[in-house]
Parts: sequence; C-alpha cells; structure tokens
Amino acid sequence: RSRLGESLVGRRVVCFERTDSTNLQALRLAEQGAEEGTVLIAEAQDAGKGRLGRSWLSPPGVNLYTSIILRPEIPPWDAPQMTFLAAMAVVRAVEEVCALSPRVKWPNDLLLGGRKVAGLLSELSADMDRVRAVVLGIGLNVNMSPEQIPSTLRYPATSLAIEGGRNYSRIDLACAICRHLDALYRLYRERGFEPVRLAWEANCDLIGRRVEVSCGEGTLRGRVRGIDGDGALLLDGPGGGVERILAGDVRPLGT
Ligand code: BTN
Repeated sequence: RSRLGESLVGRRVVCFERTDSTNLQALRLAEQGAEEGTVLIAEAQDAGKGRLGRSWLSPPGVNLYTSIILRPEIPPWDAPQMTFLAAMAVVRAVEEVCALSPRVKWPNDLLLGGRKVAGLLSELSADMDRVRAVVLGIGLNVNMSPEQIPSTLRYPATSLAIEGGRNYSRIDLACAICRHLDALYRLYRERGFEPVRLAWEANCDLIGRRVEVSCGEGTLRGRVRGIDGDGALLLDGPGGGVERILAGDVRPLGT
C-alpha cells in the first residue's frame, strides 16, 4: 500500500487466501458502499469467472487474480470502455515489471507470442441511466509453468514466466497495475475515452488483418478497422460496409 503513494486505485486492498471469485466479492463490497479504488486480490479462486459464463482456472500461488472497484460518473452504455482502460493498465504494468510487450486482442484478452496471458472481465452495478460501480476483474498468468496449463483450454495459453524465462513478483505486478490504472483513469476523466482507444489500437496486432468473429448473429468475416467510441469492434465487410460487433470471439484468418 505504501508503494502506491497518492494513487486512488489501491487506497484500500482486501486480500483473500481463497475465495469463490474476486469479482463476486467485489460486486458484493461495491453494493455495500465500498469506496472507489478498492482492490481485491486472491491467492486462489474456487469459482473464477471468465467471459460468456466460462470459468477461469485459478490455482494457488502462481498467478494474479484481482478485481478493482471504480465508480466513474458515466451512463451504463459507456461502461465497456473501462475494460479497455484495464487492458492498457495491464499492458503497461507488464512492460514495466517484466520488459515484455503483450498485445491486446478484442474484446478483453492480452497475448504474448500469440498465446493468451491474461483475461479481463468487467461487471457492472448500475441503475437504468447511471453506473453505481464497475468491477474490473483481471486474471494474469504470472508464474504458471507449461505443465500447469491444461491441454483442454479452448485457446493456446501462456504465462509471463514461460515467455520471459524467469519468475516475476506478483506484488510488483499488482502495484504497477494499480498505478497505471490510476493514471489512465485520470486521463479518461480529463480527456474521455479517445486517448485510451488510440493506445489500445496501437497495441492491437489485428488491425488491418482479416478475421472471423463468432457472435450472436453467427459468423462474420472481414478486415479489422479498429474499435469505436463504445469499444465495439469495427470490421470492413466484403461488400464495402462496416460491421459493428459488440460481443464475440475473434479468430485471425490468413492475411
Ligand atoms: C476471460 O478471459 O474470460 C476473463 C477472465 C477473467 C478472470 C479474472 S480472475 C480475477 C477476477 N475474478 C473472477 O472471477 N474473474 C476475474
């Protein structure tokens, strides 16, 4: 805590030896009025949540499982923007602590060497027209060894240790994420989403590439143009039109 100085993010830290899910606990604390900037960290999770109802493998001792409560004064439809803030905070923390450069993958993954190293899950407590709290959940594979990565995952996964060839301090990473998120959140409140959107696009390898997206409407193909002000994925479709996708899974196709 003392390493975070004036940072609003991390002004209160709640640690669990084990919990069901730091996101569930954070939503519970947020409903009870927990202050903005409260950070929850667990050594292990029994019911780690992934996107689209999937689970997030959370073995003890090796990785970072954290959830951060923010209370931005925004309408609920702007809340997806916060996931991109969190993604950029993790990118910058990993660059700083590990000298590795993760790439972002829409909507909420971080990749190293093309394999998933982190996932983000933001959840909302909101009224019709006002956000009460956003919970930013971050799962970062830090010191997991290749043997600890299950072969049954739907996607190739990796860890910082596998990519960097050494182990890293989870506390250093957690502090760096708090500091970078704090700085990005200040920027967001002063200048809006645009600087964060541009930073995210600059760290995305799929811009200009052909992809296939599976989403509610089925499967769409096109060339990635970027993300818009709502965090939706923009695809240049074959007929010259632009497709706007709010949720789905992206897979690169050739060139
Ligand atoms: C995904 O890629 O599907 C998102 C994974 C998010 C996992 C993190 S771990 C900390 C926080 N608590 C949870 O239950 N989930 C998020």
